[in-house]
Amino acid sequence: MILRCRFYFLIFSFYFVKKFYITTPIYYVNAKPHIGHAYTTIAADVLARFHRLQGKDVFLLTGTDEHGLKIQREAEKNKKKPQEFVDEISAEFRNLWEKLGIQYDRFIRTTDPSHKKAVQKVLQTLYDKGVIYKGEYEGLYCVACEQFRQESELIDGRCPDHDIVLEKVKEECYLLKLSEVHSKLIKKIESDEFAISPEQYKKEILSFLKSQPLRDISISRKNVSWGIPLPFDSKHTTYVWIDAFLNYLTGLGWNGDILRWHLRKAEDAILGFWPPDVQLIGKDILRVHATIWPAILIHLGIDLPKRLYVHGHILSGGRKMSKTLGNVISIEEMLEKFGKDGTRYLLMSAGTFGEDVDITTERMVEKYNADLANGIGNYLSRVLKLLKEISNFQYPIKLSDKSWALVRNIEISKALSEIWKIVWENDKFIEENKPWELAKSNKDKFNEVMQKLTSDLHLISELLIPFMPETSEKIKKALKTKKTEILFPRVK
Ligand code: MSP
Repeated sequence: MILRCRFYFLIFSFYFVKKFYITTPIYYVNAKPHIGHAYTTIAADVLARFHRLQGKDVFLLTGTDEHGLKIQREAEKNKKKPQEFVDEISAEFRNLWEKLGIQYDRFIRTTDPSHKKAVQKVLQTLYDKGVIYKGEYEGLYCVACEQFRQESELIDGRCPDHDIVLEKVKEECYLLKLSEVHSKLIKKIESDEFAISPEQYKKEILSFLKSQPLRDISISRKNVSWGIPLPFDSKHTTYVWIDAFLNYLTGLGWNGDILRWHLRKAEDAILGFWPPDVQLIGKDILRVHATIWPAILIHLGIDLPKRLYVHGHILSGGRKMSKTLGNVISIEEMLEKFGKDGTRYLLMSAGTFGEDVDITTERMVEKYNADLANGIGNYLSRVLKLLKEISNFQYPIKLSDKSWALVRNIEISKALSEIWKIVWENDKFIEENKPWELAKSNKDKFNEVMQKLTSDLHLISELLIPFMPETSEKIKKALKTKKTEILFPRVK
């Protein structure tokens, strides 16, 4: 009987429970994780937690991008074998996600044997189809981007994103046909079949695509040993971006067999997550995600992701963070100072999600003390002190709220400010009504005031689940036990 129920439940969940697949970029392991990486990953976790809360079957994929010249060189510099080097740094990413409370469903590494095998299978398929061919490529290569850049993009001959001198590369290689998919791609982006948000990024990509022909790209390197050998020519290794993009497919456990994909996808529980509902990326990797990535999928006959959601960069004091400028804010320092939920809050509420956001330690300390130590922290402790005057208090749960509509729309920072509107409204309400006086002078009014204060606090705890899961739990527990707990100790 139990077995049968379980069987029907599985059938039910497979057909009726909506799936939600969300990915982060996979991070380069040439250096330790930093705030920028944490920013994307926390945002993905907020969205994943939100959709889980809505009863969906969610898959959050993240991981590390471990091949290529940049990493090969960094390992050499550190006098380590590449595998040993990437093992160490990849572990640092996983540790950090643990500290930040990231609930991922899979952490993929591009050095996983299953991923490597799948990449080779896919490349063989594309080669057999004739969309990969042998040729030569000449261009200027930026090792930091792991990309060829066009002369017209450079500033004083340097990479516009990394300010480094590019390396001239001219070598025999294999190329992937991009020109063939050009017009198809424009149509899919225009119609939002392959949506790019926010709107400004969709416009940017469309104007890029319409301004010039799409050049075929090199998908192999002859002089980079730290990579996946091409299955049809082992003198070459796979270009790191091709290897990396395929993680979004192999992360679901796909073994690279294209027949299996097309025949089995419909009834396979994990492959059934495809296509991704949201792929979060930073603006610096939009162009490759909107050209090379969909081109691979079109060539394979695989559906494109539903949406690429592009966020801006975190700047520090108006400038890109860099060791030379001395304006780097480390994520470890943030965690130490503000704790897990404090860090999540400060990053997700810094500026409008989607645009560049500027942070400084001073401003974060100020915001932490104002919004968390004072705002929600004070609200809770004041309510709890007064709650002791009442027995068997009941608070009705208000369900719908504007902030959830905003999260659904990936307007994460706006959703948080909606929640804080409730905090500030109640702050004012407490000042105006002085419930500690009402407790002595007017019991009915006191009850009424407390009714609003507690039910709003409960509502806030519900709304905070995706953003600050521990804080949400603490508030709920405090309301139940009527015990004061300091949510956020003040910081200096
Ligand atoms: N490995 C590639 C992605 C491959 S995905 C198939 C890569 N890695 S990265 O580690 O350099 O960057 C990963 C993500 O971090 C990108 O989305 C990038 O935009 C983001 N950030 C890196 N620095 C950032 C900030 N300062 N601010 C916000 N995000 C930034 O690119």
